[in-house]
Amino acid sequence: MAEAILEVRGLVKHYPLTRGVLLRKQVGSVKAVDGVDLTLHRGETLGIVGESGCGKSTVARMLVNLERPTAGSIKYRGEDITRLSGRALKAVRRNIQMVFQDPYTSLNPRMTVGDIIGEPYEIHPEAAPRGDRRRKVQELLDVVGLNPEYINRYPHQFSGGQRQRIGIARGLALRPEIIVADEPVSALDVSVQAQVINLMARLQSEFKLSYVFIAHDLSIVRHISDRVGVMYLGRIVETGRDTEIYDRPTHPYTQALLSAVPVPDPEARERRERIILTGDVPSPTNVPSGCRFRTRCWKAQDVCAEEVPPLAVPSRPREEGGPAGHESACHFAEEKQVVAAETR
Ligand SMILES: Nc1ncnc2c1ncn2[C@@H]1O[C@H](COP(=O)(O)OP(=O)(O)OP(=O)(O)O)[C@@H](O)[C@H]1O
Ligand code: SF4
Ligand SMILES: [Mg+2]
Repeated sequence: MAEAILEVRGLVKHYPLTRGVLLRKQVGSVKAVDGVDLTLHRGETLGIVGESGCGKSTVARMLVNLERPTAGSIKYRGEDITRLSGRALKAVRRNIQMVFQDPYTSLNPRMTVGDIIGEPYEIHPEAAPRGDRRRKVQELLDVVGLNPEYINRYPHQFSGGQRQRIGIARGLALRPEIIVADEPVSALDVSVQAQVINLMARLQSEFKLSYVFIAHDLSIVRHISDRVGVMYLGRIVETGRDTEIYDRPTHPYTQALLSAVPVPDPEARERRERIILTGDVPSPTNVPSGCRFRTRCWKAQDVCAEEVPPLAVPSRPREEGGPAGHESACHFAEEKQVVAAETR
C-alpha cells in the first residue's frame, strides 16, 4: 500500500457550552469530534460519511488547520501539524487545501473569478510571481473545464456546478498534495454532481492528489472512494475498503445507512430490506454511555451501555458471523448484505 500521507490519531474537538450573558459560565461541552482515527494514503480517496451534525466538517477544519483540536494528533508526512506554528505551519497549509460545501456562499460575490482563484497567491506569493498570476489562473480555469476568458466575471454569472469548479480551481492553485472536500457536491443537482465528481477524479490522477471526500450519503462517496469511514456522533464506527463497506458492512449504523441508498432497479428495490432507524441522533452535549449508537440500535444489549466498543477487526470466526476483515466499533459486528452487488 502507498505511503500514509496523513495519519490522524485520537482527534478530539470539544466546544465549550456556556450560559449567562455577562458572567459566562461553562456548563458543559459539545463533543463535536470525540476520538477519531484516520489514515490517508498517497493518491487515494478516503470517503467520510455520516448524518448531519456527526462532526464531519469539524474534522475537515482541523485537517486543514482552520481549527485547533482539543486533543489528538494529525501527522502529515510523519510530522504532527497540530504543534506547528508560524512559517512551518504556513508551509504545511499550502499542501493541504479545502474545497467547501456550498458554492453559493463560499465565493465572495464582490470578487472576480480571477481574484478568487488567485487569492491563495496573496498568502503564498512564492507560489506564483505577480506577473505570472493571470496566466496561472487562466490555466486553472481551463483545467477545471471553464473558459479562461471568464476570468473577469463575478460568481453570480455562473451556475452552481460552475461555481464549484471555481472552488476546485482555487483549491488547486497552490498545487497541494491533499484536498479535503467537505460535501463538494451536496448543494448541486444530481445531474451536475456526477460531472463534478468526474472532474475531481480526473484531477486526482492528473495532479497526483490525495482526497478526503466528505458526504452525508453513501451513494455519493461510492463512486470516488477507495476507502470509506462511517461517522456517528463524533466517532468513526466502521472503516474499510469501499467494497467491504458496501458489500459486507458489519456495523448496524452502516447497514441502516446503506438500506437508505437509492437503488435504481425497481425489482431490486422491492427485495431490499429497509432498516428504519428510530429516535433522533442524541445531542453531542450528552453522549450515551458505552456504544453511542445504542439508543437507536435494534441489536443493543446490556453490554452496549456499559462498554465502549473499540474500532477493531471483529475477532470471531467466520462461522459465527466474523471476522469481516475490516474495522467496526460494535460488540456484535456481523456481516450483512444490505444492497445486492448486481443492483448498484
Ligand atoms: N463553533 C462551534 N461551536 C459549538 N458547536 C459547534 C461548533 N461547530 C460545530 N458545532 C457542533 O458540533 C457538531 C458537529 O458539527 P459539524 O458541522 O462538524 O457536523 P457535520 O457532520 O459537518 O454536519 P452537516 O452534515 O450538517 O454539515 C454539531 O452538533 C454542531 O452543532
Ligand atoms: S455495540 Fe451494541 S448498540 Fe452498538 S452498534 Fe453494536 S449492537 Fe448496536
Ligand atoms: Mg458539515
